[in-house]
Amino acid sequence: MEIRAPQGPELEALMTLAGHVLSAERTGPFVRSHLERHHLLVAVEGGEVLGVLAYRTDWFQCTLVSLVSVRPDHRKRGVARALYKAVEGMSPSPRLYSSTEETNSLAIQMHTALGFQPSGHIDNLPQGYRELLFYKRLR
Ligand SMILES: CC(C)(COP(=O)(O)OP(=O)(O)OC[C@H]1O[C@@H](n2cnc3c(N)ncnc32)[C@H](O)[C@@H]1OP(=O)(O)O)[C@@H](O)C(=O)NCCC(=O)NCCS
Repeated sequence: MEIRAPQGPELEALMTLAGHVLSAERTGPFVRSHLERHHLLVAVEGGEVLGVLAYRTDWFQCTLVSLVSVRPDHRKRGVARALYKAVEGMSPSPRLYSSTEETNSLAIQMHTALGFQPSGHIDNLPQGYRELLFYKRLR
């Protein structure tokens, strides 16, 4: 499995994966803005996009993972783990944040397994659920 920046023909698969997490109207603008800033990573195997991770580096001078999505038929095989490892290696800040909705118990488990610690939450978001923040000190 290779973790790298996406290439042109992979855009459709990337949009589909992002669309598993984001609403239809948010997916296009979200992907385009992260593409422009080169803040997207894909996990590719056998020419297929298995997962995507988006991040930003302008969040309180820290790196924030803003989306991670793995193809349902390739989950529990270490794809997300590999994507996080890659962003950890390229984060300009030693402070890495990530988040998920309070209802996403699987993602909460994943953050714990990847060495994140709870770091507060955000209320009053349009999604209607509390967003839990996770933090990992990289170096
Ligand atoms: C959450 C998600 C990204 C995990 O991706 P994945 O590639 O399956 O995760 P990995 O195989 O790398 O697993 C990493 C760790 O997460 C935990 N984990 C992953 N899937 C799990 C499951 N179904 N049940 C329990 N723990 C799980 C495990 O602890 C695992 O570590 P381990 O294999 O060493 O035990 C994937 O399920 C997904 O795309 N879900 C839908 C989108 C989403 O919820 N995104 C996160 C919030 S934005």
